[in-house]
Amino acid sequence: MKVEKLVVGVIGLGMGHAHLGAALDYGAEVALACDPLESKYERCEKLYNFPREKWITDWKEIVNNNDINVVIIATPDQLHREMIHECLEAGKHILCEKPLALTREDIEAIVKDVEAHPECKFMIGQICRFTPSFMLAKQYIEEGRMGELYYVESEYAHDYMHMFDKPGNWRADPVRNGVVGGGCHAVDLLRWLVDADPTEVYAYGTHKLLPKVTYDDANLAIMKFPGDVMGKVFVSTGCKRNYTMRTCVYGTKGTMIFTNGKEPVQIFEIDENGNAPAEPVEIDATVNNHNAVAEFKEFADCLVNDTPVVTTVYEGAKTVEVCLSIVESANTGKIVNPNYDFT
Ligand SMILES: NC(=O)c1ccc[n+]([C@@H]2O[C@H](COP(=O)([O-])OP(=O)(O)OC[C@H]3O[C@@H](n4cnc5c(N)ncnc54)[C@H](O)[C@@H]3O)[C@@H](O)[C@H]2O)c1
Repeated sequence: MKVEKLVVGVIGLGMGHAHLGAALDYGAEVALACDPLESKYERCEKLYNFPREKWITDWKEIVNNNDINVVIIATPDQLHREMIHECLEAGKHILCEKPLALTREDIEAIVKDVEAHPECKFMIGQICRFTPSFMLAKQYIEEGRMGELYYVESEYAHDYMHMFDKPGNWRADPVRNGVVGGGCHAVDLLRWLVDADPTEVYAYGTHKLLPKVTYDDANLAIMKFPGDVMGKVFVSTGCKRNYTMRTCVYGTKGTMIFTNGKEPVQIFEIDENGNAPAEPVEIDATVNNHNAVAEFKEFADCLVNDTPVVTTVYEGAKTVEVCLSIVESANTGKIVNPNYDFT
């Protein structure tokens, strides 16, 4: 059924503040925004002139508000499952931050919940799918300009050192780790670009940088996709450098290189004789990695037009499953075959 008027509730105002801004940008009404921390509300007040009377500290008020038909869940990963469940029971459409959840048990429960509520649309916020440079990669691949893919790699390098001082310190919870929490961006990006799910994963891990966590703070994974495509993901959550999602796409007709820094996207395409140019074509595609406006717009358009969501709960679940396979392989030293049956 088409949703005539979007009335939004936002739970969690860390990243959630960007979603709140995106909903307002779309022209949706944001009825309530929830965060126990007043400082998080004050940022929304400053950035969006968001009224204080719409700020609440108990997320159940959003669940129980009959006017709200869309909920954005942007709380710590550990809370997604319970919040998704309650919101679905209350008939809300949901845009949930990545990762879908942190454990196999949780992703299975969420998939079942979403399946039990077909009247509610659910979208997982894998935001790299809305990053302009990565959208360009997807477009070039779909147009056949890269030929047949044979190798893709992406890395998620992000220094989390400062994040362990935040209230709640939820990122240091042993149930969370850098691969599922952050590396899911790189894994999801490769799954999306290849348009297939890896069948085999092999990984290593090390722990030299983050004394406040018990899990590996760096992992290297290689993986095999259907169609003879090889993949590599590197995750470092203690790295001594600026944030990057450096990514390369290799195909039989061309190569694309994304540094996610200030440099333009580099594209090599073969000529009519099959030769690659000595220098790449450079395109200034934005590498804004948090394109919450485009992400919300896609979800809102699905609601308003009653069209299917592309970044479904299964996409979120498969990405987490690959991440969990990386962790399992690094811990066991064995090749892991991800299990995509969530029922
Ligand atoms: N898309 C991205 O690129 C991206 C980037 C960062 C984080 N994330 C994801 O977004 C989510 C939030 O991460 P973050 O960086 O904003 O973390 P954060 O710690 O900065 O913010 C989370 C907020 O949730 C609030 N919160 C905690 N418990 C709550 C509750 N019961 N009810 C309401 N609010 C509650 C906290 O007070 C905090 O302000 C996580 O799932 C994270 O993995 C996604």
